[in-house]
Amino acid sequence: MPRPHRGANPTEARRRAELAGDQRFETAMASPARTRRSLLLGSAALIAAPGWLSPAIAQGGLRPTPRQTEGPFYPVALPADTDADLLRNGQARYGKGQAAWVEGTVVDLDGRPLQGAVVEIWQCDADGHYHHPGDGDRADPAFQGFGRAALDREGRYRFRTLRPVPYTGRTPHIHVKVKLDRLELLTTQLYVQGDPGNPRDGLWRRLDEAGRAALTRPFTPDGDGVKATFPIVVQA
Ligand SMILES: [Fe+2]
Repeated sequence: MPRPHRGANPTEARRRAELAGDQRFETAMASPARTRRSLLLGSAALIAAPGWLSPAIAQGGLRPTPRQTEGPFYPVALPADTDADLLRNGQARYGKGQAAWVEGTVVDLDGRPLQGAVVEIWQCDADGHYHHPGDGDRADPAFQGFGRAALDREGRYRFRTLRPVPYTGRTPHIHVKVKLDRLELLTTQLYVQGDPGNPRDGLWRRLDEAGRAALTRPFTPDGDGVKATFPIVVQA
C-alpha cells in the first residue's frame, strides 16, 4: 500500500480522480439486456446509445468488452522503453512484487483477429505508485509502468508485468487500451478474480454480472509467477 504523504492527502485526491471519470461511461457499461431494452425504447434511446453498441449484438455477434474510465494516470510522456516487458525498463530490472504474464486476443464482434491493432497497459508499481506527476512521479524507475504489444497474425498479445496491487481506494487492476492506428477502440481495466478488494471497489461494483466476468480474470500460478488470460472484443 502506498505510504501517506504530508500535507494534502494525495491518495484520497487520487482515489477521487480515478473514480470521477467513470460517470461518463455508465451508459457504455450497459448490459446486453439493457442494450436491447434501449434499442426497443425507440429513437431517443438510440440517439443516446454510444456508437460501439452495434446492432451486431442483436444479430448474435460477440459482446464487446466493457469500457471503463481511463483514470488520471495514463502517461503524460511515454517512457523511452515501451515494450511488452514492464519488468525491465531499459537496462534496469524490477524485482518487487509478483511477476505475471498477461495475455489474450483482440477480436472484432465477429470473432476476427483485429489486424494491426496495438494493446497498451499501464499500472502502478508494487508499492502502489504510478509514473505520473499526478502521483508525484514516485514509481520505481526500474518498473516500466507502461507497455505496448502489437497483435500477431492470430490477434494475440502478451505482456510480462506485475500481478496488480491495491492502493488506497482501488482494488488491484491493470489499465488497458486497444488502439488501431490513432483510433482508440477501447479503454478498460482488468481485475483479479477472487481479490477481496473487488466488492469494495466503486468501479468494479458498477459492472453488471457479465461485465465483471469479462474484466475479472483468474491469475493462476505459472512458473515463477502467475498468468492471466484476458480475451478482448472490440467494435472495429
Ligand atoms: Fe489505476
